[in-house]
Amino acid sequence: MAATWTFAVARDDLARTTLTEGTTPAVADGEALLRVDRVGLTANNITYAVLGDAMRYWEFFPPAAGGLEQQWGLPPLWGFAEVVESQVPGVEAGQRVYGYLPPAGHLLVRPDRVDATGFRDASVHRAELPSPYNAYRLTTGDPAYRADQEDLLILFRPLFFTSFMLADQVVDNDFYGAQTLLLSSASSKTAYAAAFELHGRGPRLVGLTSPGNVEFTRSLGCYDEVVSYDDLGTLDAVPTAYLDLSGAPATRAALRGHLGDQLVRDVAVGLTNQIPNAAAAEEVFFAPVQMRKRRQDWGRDGLDQRFADAWQRFAKVVTGWIDVRVGSGPADLEQAWQEVLTGRTPPRVGHVVQL
Ligand SMILES: NC(=O)c1ccc[n+]([C@@H]2O[C@H](COP(=O)([O-])OP(=O)(O)OC[C@H]3O[C@@H](n4cnc5c(N)ncnc54)[C@H](OP(=O)(O)O)[C@@H]3O)[C@@H](O)[C@H]2O)c1
Repeated sequence: MAATWTFAVARDDLARTTLTEGTTPAVADGEALLRVDRVGLTANNITYAVLGDAMRYWEFFPPAAGGLEQQWGLPPLWGFAEVVESQVPGVEAGQRVYGYLPPAGHLLVRPDRVDATGFRDASVHRAELPSPYNAYRLTTGDPAYRADQEDLLILFRPLFFTSFMLADQVVDNDFYGAQTLLLSSASSKTAYAAAFELHGRGPRLVGLTSPGNVEFTRSLGCYDEVVSYDDLGTLDAVPTAYLDLSGAPATRAALRGHLGDQLVRDVAVGLTNQIPNAAAAEEVFFAPVQMRKRRQDWGRDGLDQRFADAWQRFAKVVTGWIDVRVGSGPADLEQAWQEVLTGRTPPRVGHVVQL
């Protein structure tokens, strides 16, 4: 047994946090112990916490594993971990995996479907949760992995996957007949990656963002036009599909007022404003749904390869769009959490924490 730690947030007040210390669990037959090594923090992780109950994100990493009671939640993070001990054939100490991780020193998993690409955590408490979150990918069996791009993968992989699937769904539906695709929180990674994927494929791409983020968002060059939330009354009243990443009720109401029946589609994708928007929108985008469709159409390898190709195109460009800020240890993780929660992180900054 070794020393470990757990970071948690109060489920009813995401700004209240705690850090506990403990020891690593014993590894039984069929289990493996991962050491959480390097993770990222973006608005997406805050969204997991905002929807922790509604979408069951709190259930991935039960607080009891860190000796905490139910009023605490462990917000899921994405990043790399290392196998430190294993009682499962094919899962070896020293292997490095990418996946969904707790804000903690270690994670005990029950590897299943072990192959050259990695494994799935078959722990009972995760069985009913969306399966893409239960996969751990070995760096050695992953066409998208490059050692010199780890921080980009940490920050962007799940977001870019969403953007890639969202763009694919929009194209798959003939752009919903829209002349304009309008994205809110256009300065967010998920939005600009979707714009990157959709740019030049048909409709005009317009980004809506905060006044202070207009310049950054314009500088990316992946939107045809960037407009601040205050100026949305200047938008052309043409058939428009709204891809909402902000979740802001006032923006939705203003758009409905301005565009009327020219608002041909209204899709909730994210909620950077931390107000759930699913009920107010016409539909909710959830990447695993389009992913399942494309797995059937293209096969798992076909989807992986298309994703890897798109990722490599994006990775080349995005290095010029982001400044990775690397912290170290649980205290820096807590600080990054508070910064992202309160929207103080400039859009050009991406928080990565070495644990
Ligand atoms: N449906 C899905 O499957 C799926 C998958 C991945 C991500 N998402 C969602 O997409 C959204 C964007 O995630 P991300 O990780 O890409 O974000 P990010 O890059 O961290 O986004 C930063 C931007 O979000 C806005 N923002 C951040 N904090 C805010 C706050 N406290 N109040 C108001 N606005 C704030 C600002 O944009 P503006 O000034 O431009 O508004 C900011 O520049 C999240 O809600 C995430 O959950 C959904």
